[in-house]
Amino acid sequence: MPPLSNLATRDVETLVHPYINLANFRAAGPLIIERGQGIYVYDTDGKPYIEGMAGLWCTALGYGNEELVEAAAAQMRKLSFAHLFTGKSHDPAIELAEKLKEIAPVPISKVFFCNSGSEANDSQVKLVWYFNNALGRPKKKKIISRVKAYHGVTVVAASLTGLSANHRDFDLPLPGFLHAACPHHYRFAYAGESEEQFAARLAEELDALIVKEGPETVAAFIAEPVMGAGGVIVPPKTYFEKIMPVCAKHDVSMISDEVICGFGRLGTTFGCEKLGFKPNAISIAKALSSGYLPIAGVMLPETMYQALLAESRKIGVFGHGFTYGGHPVAAAVALKAIEIYTRDRVFEKAAEMAPIFQARLAAFNAHPLVGEARGLGLIGGVELVADKRSKRSFMPQHGIGARAVQFAEAEGLIVRSVLGDVLTLCPPLVISAAEIDELFDRLARALDNTLDWVSRERLAQG
Ligand SMILES: Cc1ncc(COP(=O)(O)O)c(C=O)c1O
Repeated sequence: MPPLSNLATRDVETLVHPYINLANFRAAGPLIIERGQGIYVYDTDGKPYIEGMAGLWCTALGYGNEELVEAAAAQMRKLSFAHLFTGKSHDPAIELAEKLKEIAPVPISKVFFCNSGSEANDSQVKLVWYFNNALGRPKKKKIISRVKAYHGVTVVAASLTGLSANHRDFDLPLPGFLHAACPHHYRFAYAGESEEQFAARLAEELDALIVKEGPETVAAFIAEPVMGAGGVIVPPKTYFEKIMPVCAKHDVSMISDEVICGFGRLGTTFGCEKLGFKPNAISIAKALSSGYLPIAGVMLPETMYQALLAESRKIGVFGHGFTYGGHPVAAAVALKAIEIYTRDRVFEKAAEMAPIFQARLAAFNAHPLVGEARGLGLIGGVELVADKRSKRSFMPQHGIGARAVQFAEAEGLIVRSVLGDVLTLCPPLVISAAEIDELFDRLARALDNTLDWVSRERLAQG
Protein backbone atom coordinates (compact mmCIF):
# COMPACT_ATOMS: atom_id res chain seq x y z
CA MET A 1 0.00 0.00 0.00
CA PRO A 2 1.63 3.38 -0.98
CA PRO A 3 2.10 5.90 1.87
CA LEU A 4 -0.79 8.31 2.43
CA SER A 5 -0.52 11.93 1.36
CA ASN A 6 -0.48 14.62 4.02
CA LEU A 7 -4.15 15.45 3.46
CA ALA A 8 -5.13 11.76 3.54
CA THR A 9 -3.24 11.28 6.82
CA ARG A 10 -5.05 14.27 8.31
CA ASP A 11 -8.33 12.74 7.16
CA VAL A 12 -7.60 9.36 8.75
CA GLU A 13 -6.66 11.05 12.02
CA THR A 14 -9.71 13.31 12.20
CA LEU A 15 -12.80 11.87 10.50
CA VAL A 16 -15.17 8.99 11.11
CA HIS A 17 -16.37 7.98 7.65
CA PRO A 18 -19.76 6.38 6.99
CA TYR A 19 -20.03 3.00 5.26
CA ILE A 20 -16.45 1.80 5.29
CA ASN A 21 -14.47 -0.81 7.18
CA LEU A 22 -12.86 1.73 9.49
CA ALA A 23 -9.95 -0.61 10.27
CA ASN A 24 -8.96 -1.25 6.61
CA PHE A 25 -9.53 2.42 5.81
CA ARG A 26 -6.66 3.51 8.07
CA ALA A 27 -4.15 2.00 5.62
CA ALA A 28 -6.04 2.63 2.37
CA GLY A 29 -7.01 6.24 3.09
CA PRO A 30 -9.62 8.29 1.23
CA LEU A 31 -10.04 9.30 -2.40
CA ILE A 32 -10.15 13.06 -1.90
CA ILE A 33 -12.30 14.91 -4.41
CA GLU A 34 -11.48 18.57 -4.93
CA ARG A 35 -13.79 19.92 -7.60
CA GLY A 36 -16.46 18.98 -10.13
CA GLN A 37 -17.77 20.07 -13.49
CA GLY A 38 -20.58 18.52 -15.53
CA ILE A 39 -20.57 14.76 -14.92
CA TYR A 40 -16.89 14.82 -13.88
CA VAL A 41 -15.20 15.22 -10.51
CA TYR A 42 -11.46 15.73 -10.03
CA ASP A 43 -9.20 14.44 -7.26
CA THR A 44 -6.41 16.38 -5.58
CA ASP A 45 -3.97 15.27 -8.31
CA GLY A 46 -6.30 16.70 -10.94
CA LYS A 47 -7.36 13.24 -12.20
CA PRO A 48 -10.89 13.32 -13.71
CA TYR A 49 -13.53 10.71 -12.90
CA ILE A 50 -16.99 10.23 -14.36
CA GLU A 51 -19.25 10.52 -11.32
CA GLY A 52 -21.18 7.36 -12.08
CA MET A 53 -23.15 7.67 -8.83
CA ALA A 54 -24.17 11.35 -9.09
CA GLY A 55 -22.44 11.72 -5.72
CA LEU A 56 -24.78 9.66 -3.58
CA TRP A 57 -27.68 9.31 -6.06
CA CYS A 58 -28.28 13.08 -5.90
CA THR A 59 -26.44 15.47 -8.26
CA ALA A 60 -29.02 15.20 -11.03
CA LEU A 61 -27.81 18.37 -12.79
CA GLY A 62 -24.15 17.45 -12.46
CA TYR A 63 -21.50 19.69 -10.95
CA GLY A 64 -20.75 23.39 -11.20
CA ASN A 65 -24.22 24.50 -12.27
CA GLU A 66 -23.90 28.29 -12.12
CA GLU A 67 -27.65 28.90 -11.94
CA LEU A 68 -27.86 26.88 -8.72
CA VAL A 69 -24.79 28.64 -7.34
CA GLU A 70 -26.34 32.01 -8.15
CA ALA A 71 -29.70 31.05 -6.61
CA ALA A 72 -27.91 30.12 -3.38
CA ALA A 73 -25.77 33.27 -3.32
CA ALA A 74 -28.72 35.57 -4.04
CA GLN A 75 -30.85 34.01 -1.32
CA MET A 76 -27.96 34.04 1.15
CA ARG A 77 -27.49 37.75 0.53
CA LYS A 78 -31.19 38.45 0.94
CA LEU A 79 -32.03 36.25 3.93
CA SER A 80 -29.38 33.79 5.07
CA PHE A 81 -31.50 32.02 7.63
CA ALA A 82 -35.12 31.84 8.61
CA HIS A 83 -37.17 29.05 10.13
CA LEU A 84 -40.70 27.76 10.05
CA PHE A 85 -41.19 27.31 13.82
CA THR A 86 -43.80 29.05 15.95
CA GLY A 87 -45.67 30.66 13.09
CA LYS A 88 -42.71 32.16 11.20
CA SER A 89 -42.27 31.63 7.49
CA HIS A 90 -40.37 32.76 4.41
CA ASP A 91 -41.15 32.96 0.72
CA PRO A 92 -38.72 30.28 -0.61
CA ALA A 93 -40.37 27.60 1.57
CA ILE A 94 -43.88 28.73 0.60
CA GLU A 95 -43.04 28.79 -3.10
CA LEU A 96 -41.29 25.43 -2.98
CA ALA A 97 -44.20 23.77 -1.18
CA GLU A 98 -46.58 25.19 -3.80
CA LYS A 99 -44.38 23.91 -6.61
CA LEU A 100 -44.15 20.44 -5.04
CA LYS A 101 -47.93 20.25 -4.68
CA GLU A 102 -48.24 21.23 -8.33
CA ILE A 103 -45.92 18.47 -9.61
CA ALA A 104 -47.01 15.77 -7.11
CA PRO A 105 -48.20 12.50 -8.65
CA VAL A 106 -51.11 12.19 -6.17
CA PRO A 107 -53.19 14.84 -4.35
CA ILE A 108 -50.94 16.42 -1.75
CA SER A 109 -52.27 18.83 0.83
CA LYS A 110 -49.15 19.95 2.69
CA VAL A 111 -45.36 19.63 2.68
CA PHE A 112 -43.26 19.25 5.82
CA PHE A 113 -39.61 20.16 5.24
CA CYS A 114 -36.56 18.53 6.80
CA ASN A 115 -32.90 18.06 5.85
CA SER A 116 -32.26 14.45 4.87
CA GLY A 117 -33.93 11.33 3.61
CA SER A 118 -33.58 9.77 7.05
CA GLU A 119 -35.37 12.68 8.67
CA ALA A 120 -38.10 12.50 6.04
CA ASN A 121 -38.75 8.82 6.72
CA ASP A 122 -38.44 9.30 10.47
CA SER A 123 -41.03 12.05 10.18
CA GLN A 124 -43.30 9.84 8.06
CA VAL A 125 -43.40 7.28 10.85
CA LYS A 126 -43.97 9.86 13.59
CA LEU A 127 -46.76 11.45 11.55
CA VAL A 128 -48.44 8.09 10.94
CA TRP A 129 -48.31 7.36 14.67
CA TYR A 130 -49.68 10.83 15.47
CA PHE A 131 -52.37 10.40 12.80
CA ASN A 132 -53.56 7.11 14.25
CA ASN A 133 -53.64 8.55 17.76
CA ALA A 134 -55.71 11.42 16.40
CA LEU A 135 -58.12 8.92 14.83
CA GLY A 136 -58.43 7.04 18.13
CA ARG A 137 -56.56 3.97 16.82
CA PRO A 138 -53.66 3.82 19.30
CA LYS A 139 -52.83 0.20 18.45
CA LYS A 140 -52.37 0.85 14.72
CA LYS A 141 -48.63 1.62 14.82
CA LYS A 142 -46.56 -1.13 13.18
CA ILE A 143 -44.69 -0.26 10.01
CA ILE A 144 -43.82 -2.71 7.27
CA SER A 145 -40.84 -2.18 4.97
CA ARG A 146 -38.90 -4.79 3.01
CA VAL A 147 -35.76 -6.87 3.31
CA LYS A 148 -32.92 -4.96 1.54
CA ALA A 149 -34.85 -1.68 1.64
CA TYR A 150 -32.82 1.43 2.42
CA HIS A 151 -34.62 4.23 4.21
CA GLY A 152 -31.77 5.88 6.16
CA VAL A 153 -29.88 5.65 9.42
CA THR A 154 -31.63 7.57 12.18
CA VAL A 155 -33.08 5.20 14.77
CA VAL A 156 -36.47 4.88 13.08
CA ALA A 157 -35.22 5.11 9.48
CA ALA A 158 -32.59 2.43 10.21
CA SER A 159 -35.34 0.26 11.67
CA LEU A 160 -37.19 0.62 8.36
CA THR A 161 -34.03 -0.25 6.47
CA GLY A 162 -33.80 -3.97 5.78
CA LEU A 163 -30.03 -4.38 5.75
CA SER A 164 -28.14 -6.19 8.51
CA ALA A 165 -25.21 -3.72 8.50
CA ASN A 166 -27.63 -1.00 9.65
CA HIS A 167 -29.03 -3.14 12.46
CA ARG A 168 -26.21 -5.26 13.78
CA ASP A 169 -24.79 -4.03 17.09
CA PHE A 170 -26.90 -0.88 16.86
CA ASP A 171 -29.65 -2.83 18.69
CA LEU A 172 -32.05 -2.33 15.79
CA PRO A 173 -34.67 -2.66 14.43
CA LEU A 174 -36.95 -1.24 17.11
CA PRO A 175 -39.97 -3.35 18.00
CA GLY A 176 -42.94 -2.79 15.70
CA PHE A 177 -40.86 -2.58 12.49
CA LEU A 178 -41.50 -5.56 10.23
CA HIS A 179 -39.76 -6.54 7.01
CA ALA A 180 -41.67 -8.15 4.16
CA ALA A 181 -39.86 -10.18 1.50
CA CYS A 182 -37.49 -8.55 -0.96
CA PRO A 183 -38.98 -8.24 -4.46
CA HIS A 184 -35.88 -9.47 -6.28
CA HIS A 185 -36.83 -12.05 -8.88
CA TYR A 186 -33.25 -13.12 -9.69
CA ARG A 187 -32.53 -14.01 -6.08
CA PHE A 188 -35.83 -14.93 -4.50
CA ALA A 189 -38.24 -16.28 -7.15
CA TYR A 190 -38.90 -20.02 -7.13
CA ALA A 191 -37.57 -22.01 -10.09
CA GLY A 192 -39.88 -21.44 -13.03
CA GLU A 193 -41.87 -18.70 -11.28
CA SER A 194 -42.71 -15.84 -13.68
CA GLU A 195 -42.33 -12.22 -12.59
CA GLU A 196 -46.12 -11.93 -12.30
CA GLN A 197 -46.38 -15.12 -10.25
CA PHE A 198 -43.58 -13.93 -7.98
CA ALA A 199 -45.38 -10.59 -7.55
CA ALA A 200 -48.63 -12.38 -6.72
CA ARG A 201 -46.86 -14.52 -4.12
CA LEU A 202 -45.25 -11.45 -2.51
CA ALA A 203 -48.63 -9.71 -2.33
CA GLU A 204 -50.16 -12.82 -0.73
CA GLU A 205 -47.29 -12.97 1.76
CA LEU A 206 -47.78 -9.31 2.63
CA ASP A 207 -51.48 -9.93 3.15
CA ALA A 208 -50.71 -12.93 5.39
CA LEU A 209 -48.20 -10.89 7.40
CA ILE A 210 -50.74 -8.12 8.02
CA VAL A 211 -53.42 -10.64 8.99
CA LYS A 212 -51.02 -12.47 11.32
CA GLU A 213 -49.99 -9.22 13.04
CA GLY A 214 -53.59 -7.98 13.12
CA PRO A 215 -54.61 -5.26 10.62
CA GLU A 216 -55.65 -3.09 13.56
CA THR A 217 -51.94 -2.96 14.56
CA VAL A 218 -50.40 -2.22 11.13
CA ALA A 219 -50.19 1.45 10.18
CA ALA A 220 -48.07 1.79 7.07
CA PHE A 221 -46.10 0.13 4.31
CA ILE A 222 -43.06 2.00 2.97
CA ALA A 223 -41.27 1.22 -0.29
CA GLU A 224 -38.73 2.66 -2.69
CA PRO A 225 -40.10 2.37 -6.26
CA VAL A 226 -36.74 0.86 -7.29
CA MET A 227 -34.60 -0.18 -4.32
CA GLY A 228 -31.28 1.66 -4.47
CA ALA A 229 -28.70 0.99 -1.79
CA GLY A 230 -30.03 -2.56 -1.30
CA GLY A 231 -28.61 -3.35 -4.74
CA VAL A 232 -30.74 -1.60 -7.40
CA ILE A 233 -33.67 -3.98 -7.29
CA VAL A 234 -36.42 -3.40 -9.83
CA PRO A 235 -39.62 -5.04 -8.59
CA PRO A 236 -41.17 -7.81 -10.70
CA LYS A 237 -43.85 -6.85 -13.23
CA THR A 238 -47.23 -6.03 -11.61
CA TYR A 239 -45.70 -5.91 -8.10
CA PHE A 240 -47.12 -2.58 -6.95
CA GLU A 241 -50.37 -3.20 -8.81
CA LYS A 242 -50.79 -6.26 -6.55
CA ILE A 243 -49.43 -4.70 -3.35
CA MET A 244 -51.67 -1.62 -3.51
CA PRO A 245 -55.02 -3.40 -2.94
CA VAL A 246 -53.53 -5.36 -0.02
CA CYS A 247 -52.61 -2.10 1.71
CA ALA A 248 -55.98 -0.56 0.86
CA LYS A 249 -57.87 -3.61 2.15
CA HIS A 250 -56.24 -3.32 5.57
CA ASP A 251 -56.27 0.47 5.69
CA VAL A 252 -52.47 0.50 5.68
CA SER A 253 -51.04 3.81 4.47
CA MET A 254 -48.65 3.48 1.54
CA ILE A 255 -45.52 5.63 1.66
CA SER A 256 -43.34 6.02 -1.41
CA ASP A 257 -39.72 6.69 -0.50
CA GLU A 258 -38.76 8.81 -3.50
CA VAL A 259 -35.41 9.88 -2.05
CA ILE A 260 -33.58 8.30 -5.01
CA CYS A 261 -36.32 7.77 -7.60
CA GLY A 262 -37.94 11.20 -7.24
CA PHE A 263 -37.06 13.96 -9.72
CA GLY A 264 -36.53 12.11 -12.93
CA ARG A 265 -34.33 9.15 -12.04
CA LEU A 266 -36.68 6.70 -13.76
CA GLY A 267 -37.62 9.17 -16.51
CA THR A 268 -40.80 10.32 -14.76
CA THR A 269 -41.06 13.10 -12.18
CA PHE A 270 -41.68 10.57 -9.40
CA GLY A 271 -40.71 6.90 -9.37
CA CYS A 272 -44.19 5.71 -8.35
CA GLU A 273 -45.49 7.09 -11.67
CA LYS A 274 -43.12 4.81 -13.58
CA LEU A 275 -43.97 1.80 -11.39
CA GLY A 276 -47.69 2.53 -11.53
CA PHE A 277 -48.70 3.00 -7.92
CA LYS A 278 -50.40 5.73 -5.97
CA PRO A 279 -48.97 6.30 -2.51
CA ASN A 280 -50.70 8.17 0.30
CA ALA A 281 -47.55 10.02 1.33
CA ILE A 282 -44.15 10.67 -0.28
CA SER A 283 -40.60 11.23 1.03
CA ILE A 284 -38.28 13.40 -1.06
CA ALA A 285 -34.63 14.53 -0.72
CA LYS A 286 -31.42 14.30 -2.79
CA ALA A 287 -32.28 15.50 -6.34
CA LEU A 288 -34.84 17.91 -4.88
CA SER A 289 -31.91 20.34 -4.78
CA SER A 290 -29.74 18.32 -7.20
CA GLY A 291 -27.75 17.57 -4.04
CA TYR A 292 -26.40 21.13 -3.92
CA LEU A 293 -27.74 21.76 -0.41
CA PRO A 294 -29.41 19.49 2.14
CA ILE A 295 -33.18 19.67 1.90
CA ALA A 296 -35.83 16.97 2.16
CA GLY A 297 -39.55 16.77 2.66
CA VAL A 298 -42.62 14.77 3.51
CA MET A 299 -45.59 15.26 1.20
CA LEU A 300 -48.87 14.60 2.99
CA PRO A 301 -52.49 14.01 1.95
CA GLU A 302 -55.37 16.12 3.24
CA THR A 303 -56.67 13.30 5.49
CA MET A 304 -53.41 13.30 7.42
CA TYR A 305 -53.32 17.07 7.64
CA GLN A 306 -56.86 17.07 9.05
CA ALA A 307 -55.76 14.58 11.71
CA LEU A 308 -52.74 16.74 12.60
CA LEU A 309 -55.10 19.70 12.95
CA ALA A 310 -57.43 17.74 15.23
CA GLU A 311 -54.56 16.52 17.39
CA SER A 312 -53.15 20.07 17.64
CA ARG A 313 -56.56 21.29 18.81
CA LYS A 314 -56.57 18.57 21.44
CA ILE A 315 -53.01 18.76 22.80
CA GLY A 316 -52.10 22.29 21.85
CA VAL A 317 -48.93 22.03 19.80
CA PHE A 318 -47.60 20.04 16.86
CA GLY A 319 -44.33 19.10 18.56
CA HIS A 320 -42.15 18.20 15.61
CA GLY A 321 -39.69 20.18 13.47
CA PHE A 322 -36.03 20.69 12.58
CA THR A 323 -34.14 23.98 12.93
CA TYR A 324 -32.99 23.85 9.33
CA GLY A 325 -36.14 22.29 7.85
CA GLY A 326 -36.98 24.25 4.70
CA HIS A 327 -33.86 26.43 5.08
CA PRO A 328 -34.39 29.42 2.77
CA VAL A 329 -31.10 28.98 0.90
CA ALA A 330 -31.73 25.26 0.33
CA ALA A 331 -35.34 25.98 -0.64
CA ALA A 332 -34.22 28.64 -3.15
CA VAL A 333 -31.78 26.16 -4.70
CA ALA A 334 -34.48 23.46 -4.86
CA LEU A 335 -36.84 25.90 -6.56
CA LYS A 336 -34.18 26.74 -9.12
CA ALA A 337 -33.40 23.04 -9.65
CA ILE A 338 -37.08 22.32 -10.36
CA GLU A 339 -37.23 25.33 -12.68
CA ILE A 340 -34.25 23.94 -14.63
CA TYR A 341 -35.70 20.41 -14.66
CA THR A 342 -38.86 21.79 -16.26
CA ARG A 343 -37.33 24.40 -18.56
CA ASP A 344 -34.63 22.06 -19.92
CA ARG A 345 -36.92 19.00 -20.09
CA VAL A 346 -34.37 17.16 -17.94
CA PHE A 347 -36.68 14.25 -17.03
CA GLU A 348 -37.85 13.76 -20.62
CA LYS A 349 -34.25 13.79 -21.81
CA ALA A 350 -33.34 11.27 -19.09
CA ALA A 351 -36.17 9.08 -20.39
CA GLU A 352 -34.67 9.39 -23.88
CA MET A 353 -31.22 8.39 -22.58
CA ALA A 354 -32.60 5.45 -20.58
CA PRO A 355 -32.77 2.90 -23.44
CA ILE A 356 -29.16 3.72 -24.41
CA PHE A 357 -28.06 3.36 -20.77
CA GLN A 358 -30.06 0.16 -20.21
CA ALA A 359 -28.81 -1.45 -23.43
CA ARG A 360 -25.17 -0.93 -22.47
CA LEU A 361 -25.94 -2.14 -18.92
CA ALA A 362 -27.75 -5.28 -20.12
CA ALA A 363 -24.75 -6.22 -22.29
CA PHE A 364 -22.84 -6.97 -19.07
CA ASN A 365 -25.10 -10.00 -18.55
CA ALA A 366 -22.71 -11.78 -20.93
CA HIS A 367 -19.66 -11.03 -18.76
CA PRO A 368 -18.26 -14.07 -16.90
CA LEU A 369 -18.31 -12.21 -13.55
CA VAL A 370 -21.85 -10.85 -13.83
CA GLY A 371 -24.82 -12.74 -12.39
CA GLU A 372 -27.35 -10.07 -13.22
CA ALA A 373 -27.10 -6.59 -14.75
CA ARG A 374 -30.37 -4.79 -14.05
CA GLY A 375 -31.93 -1.37 -13.87
CA LEU A 376 -34.58 1.07 -14.94
CA GLY A 377 -34.34 4.61 -16.24
CA LEU A 378 -30.90 5.97 -15.40
CA ILE A 379 -30.16 3.63 -12.52
CA GLY A 380 -28.34 0.34 -12.79
CA GLY A 381 -26.86 -2.48 -10.76
CA VAL A 382 -24.28 -5.09 -11.76
CA GLU A 383 -24.25 -8.10 -9.44
CA LEU A 384 -20.93 -9.94 -9.46
CA VAL A 385 -21.04 -13.66 -8.75
CA ALA A 386 -18.51 -16.48 -8.33
CA ASP A 387 -20.63 -18.86 -10.41
CA LYS A 388 -23.11 -17.61 -12.99
CA ARG A 389 -25.04 -20.90 -13.27
CA SER A 390 -25.68 -21.49 -9.57
CA LYS A 391 -25.74 -17.70 -8.84
CA ARG A 392 -23.27 -18.37 -6.03
CA SER A 393 -21.93 -15.13 -4.54
CA PHE A 394 -18.31 -14.48 -3.68
CA MET A 395 -17.26 -14.84 -0.04
CA PRO A 396 -17.83 -11.39 1.53
CA GLN A 397 -14.30 -11.34 3.00
CA HIS A 398 -12.83 -11.39 -0.53
CA GLY A 399 -14.24 -7.91 -1.08
CA ILE A 400 -14.78 -8.39 -4.82
CA GLY A 401 -17.12 -5.41 -5.12
CA ALA A 402 -14.73 -3.11 -3.28
CA ARG A 403 -11.90 -4.28 -5.52
CA ALA A 404 -13.99 -3.67 -8.64
CA VAL A 405 -14.63 -0.13 -7.38
CA GLN A 406 -10.86 0.39 -7.17
CA PHE A 407 -10.37 -0.91 -10.71
CA ALA A 408 -13.12 1.45 -11.87
CA GLU A 409 -11.45 4.37 -10.11
CA ALA A 410 -8.17 3.48 -11.82
CA GLU A 411 -10.11 3.80 -15.11
CA GLY A 412 -11.51 7.19 -14.04
CA LEU A 413 -15.00 6.07 -13.06
CA ILE A 414 -16.72 6.35 -9.70
CA VAL A 415 -19.19 3.59 -8.93
CA ARG A 416 -20.29 2.16 -5.63
CA SER A 417 -20.34 -1.39 -4.35
CA VAL A 418 -23.16 -2.38 -2.01
CA LEU A 419 -23.83 -5.54 -0.07
CA GLY A 420 -23.60 -8.69 -2.17
CA ASP A 421 -20.98 -7.27 -4.56
CA VAL A 422 -23.48 -5.22 -6.52
CA LEU A 423 -21.91 -2.29 -8.39
CA THR A 424 -24.40 0.54 -8.55
CA LEU A 425 -24.70 3.20 -11.24
CA CYS A 426 -26.72 6.38 -11.03
CA PRO A 427 -25.09 9.10 -13.19
CA PRO A 428 -26.24 12.71 -13.30
CA LEU A 429 -29.45 12.95 -15.35
CA VAL A 430 -27.73 15.39 -17.70
CA ILE A 431 -25.38 12.70 -19.01
CA SER A 432 -25.16 12.57 -22.82
CA ALA A 433 -25.23 9.49 -25.04
CA ALA A 434 -21.48 9.79 -25.72
CA GLU A 435 -20.80 10.09 -21.99
CA ILE A 436 -22.93 6.99 -21.30
CA ASP A 437 -20.74 5.10 -23.77
CA GLU A 438 -17.60 6.38 -22.09
CA LEU A 439 -18.94 5.37 -18.66
CA PHE A 440 -19.67 1.81 -19.78
CA ASP A 441 -16.36 1.49 -21.68
CA ARG A 442 -14.56 2.33 -18.44
CA LEU A 443 -16.73 -0.07 -16.45
CA ALA A 444 -16.04 -2.85 -18.96
CA ARG A 445 -12.28 -2.41 -18.55
CA ALA A 446 -12.70 -2.37 -14.76
CA LEU A 447 -14.71 -5.62 -14.84
CA ASP A 448 -12.13 -7.29 -17.07
CA ASN A 449 -9.40 -6.27 -14.66
CA THR A 450 -11.49 -7.56 -11.75
CA LEU A 451 -11.94 -10.87 -13.57
CA ASP A 452 -8.16 -11.16 -14.16
CA TRP A 453 -7.55 -10.53 -10.47
CA VAL A 454 -10.25 -13.03 -9.41
CA SER A 455 -8.65 -15.66 -11.69
CA ARG A 456 -5.12 -14.93 -10.47
CA GLU A 457 -6.17 -15.18 -6.84
CA ARG A 458 -8.48 -18.14 -7.56
CA LEU A 459 -11.32 -16.45 -5.71
CA ALA A 460 -14.18 -17.94 -7.72
CA GLN A 461 -13.67 -21.43 -6.35
CA GLY A 462 -16.39 -22.74 -4.06
C1 LIG B 1 -34.31 5.52 -0.68
C2 LIG B 1 -33.56 6.26 0.38
N1 LIG B 1 -34.22 6.70 1.46
C3 LIG B 1 -33.61 7.38 2.44
C4 LIG B 1 -32.26 7.62 2.38
C5 LIG B 1 -31.58 8.34 3.50
O1 LIG B 1 -31.24 9.60 3.09
P1 LIG B 1 -30.13 10.45 3.91
O2 LIG B 1 -28.82 9.76 3.70
O3 LIG B 1 -30.23 11.80 3.27
O4 LIG B 1 -30.56 10.46 5.34
C6 LIG B 1 -31.53 7.21 1.26
C7 LIG B 1 -30.09 7.48 1.14
O5 LIG B 1 -29.40 7.00 0.27
C8 LIG B 1 -32.19 6.49 0.25
O6 LIG B 1 -31.52 6.00 -0.80
